[in-house]
Amino acid sequence: MQHKGARRIDRRPVTRALTAAACALALCGPAAQETRALKDLVPGGWLIGVAINQNQSDERDTAAVDLITRQFNAISPENLLKFESVHRQPDGFTFEAQDRYVAFGQQRGMAVIGHTLVWHSQTPAWVWAGSDGGLADRATMLERMRVHIATVVGRYKGRIRGWDVVNEALNDDGTLRDSPWRRGIGDDYIAKAFEFAREADPGAELYYNDFNLATRPAKRAGAIRIVKELQQRGLRIDAVGEQGHWRLNTPTVAEIDQTITELRATGVKVMITELDVNLLPPTAPPAPGQPREPAANPYVDGLPDDVQQALARCYANAFRVFLKHRDDITRVTFWGVSDGDSWLNRGRMNYPLLWDRQRQPKAAFEEVTKVLMTKS
Ligand code: G3I
Repeated sequence: MQHKGARRIDRRPVTRALTAAACALALCGPAAQETRALKDLVPGGWLIGVAINQNQSDERDTAAVDLITRQFNAISPENLLKFESVHRQPDGFTFEAQDRYVAFGQQRGMAVIGHTLVWHSQTPAWVWAGSDGGLADRATMLERMRVHIATVVGRYKGRIRGWDVVNEALNDDGTLRDSPWRRGIGDDYIAKAFEFAREADPGAELYYNDFNLATRPAKRAGAIRIVKELQQRGLRIDAVGEQGHWRLNTPTVAEIDQTITELRATGVKVMITELDVNLLPPTAPPAPGQPREPAANPYVDGLPDDVQQALARCYANAFRVFLKHRDDITRVTFWGVSDGDSWLNRGRMNYPLLWDRQRQPKAAFEEVTKVLMTKS
């Protein structure tokens, strides 16, 4: 008995040392974390960003705050600067949490991004409403747009590096989405938004942002038309953001490559603004009160290793293309810190990002850092 006990006591420091070594190798444990930081590995001048939620910008989610601070040099607000967050009522703006978001980035020397000024979603109905119950007339809607942009962009003048001025204005076929903004103002609502943003902060970068630009050539052509029209009007536009809400096998490497080449040919820079990789099958939500089909949520007990490795390859392939275009790209931003934070869960278990639910780096993080280390 005594002998066994003595052996147990003797082994404890060894076990601890072995565990620590294993942890360091596997990059686990609160002290081990990652041995490398994305922000130190990206090409000089690149921004590597992450969308953060209010728990993070308010510094309540301290594990995420540490990770964001260690790894990234740019932040985007996942929801805080959308119209409905900042300007819910016609005569009232809300800036408390928004000011904290901007301060969060400034205190850490990060580029602070504004998302987004003019969008058909997350915008309160009053913005488009006329007095007769229909749509407001052009002059009224333009004035509401101008006041919104002047107030929000003006408040953060010199502190927000760049704004997604117009978000998701296109249909997949490249035509303009029939949003209330367009119906109320006309096709030039996009140009007016860029004009107002320029007036509010002449020093801020201004972006057009949309999804599916890599998978839908017609939509990409629509984005290029928007850029050219803004340029013909003499308006400032600095970059186009392809959101980058991608899947394992789509877009292909060739499509990403082609997209960056075509967008860059307009003269503006390219950004990947909302990067994540959806691993779940596309499905409609279950009918109210009905359980979800198990096939719609296949990874509730964890992600199989082959899928984990496929995700890592997918990210590595994408970053190889980004590096090829290092002089065309100015920023790559992930849409969320870790898998548990992602909008792609929505009642299911998704694994779209580089950090897992325990905030530990995944194989995808390792592969991305390896690719970034190959840059000369
Ligand atoms: O804030 C309310 C809360 O008060 C309420 O109790 C709760 C109940 O559902 O909802 C909360 O609002 C949610 C909000 O996120 C904040 O968490 C909304 O329901 C939810 O719809 C909203 O989702 C956001 C989505 O945009 C809305 O379109 C996601 O977080 C955000 O990641 C997502 O981001 C968009 C980009 O802005 C544009 N590109 C696509 C991207 C993904 O959809």
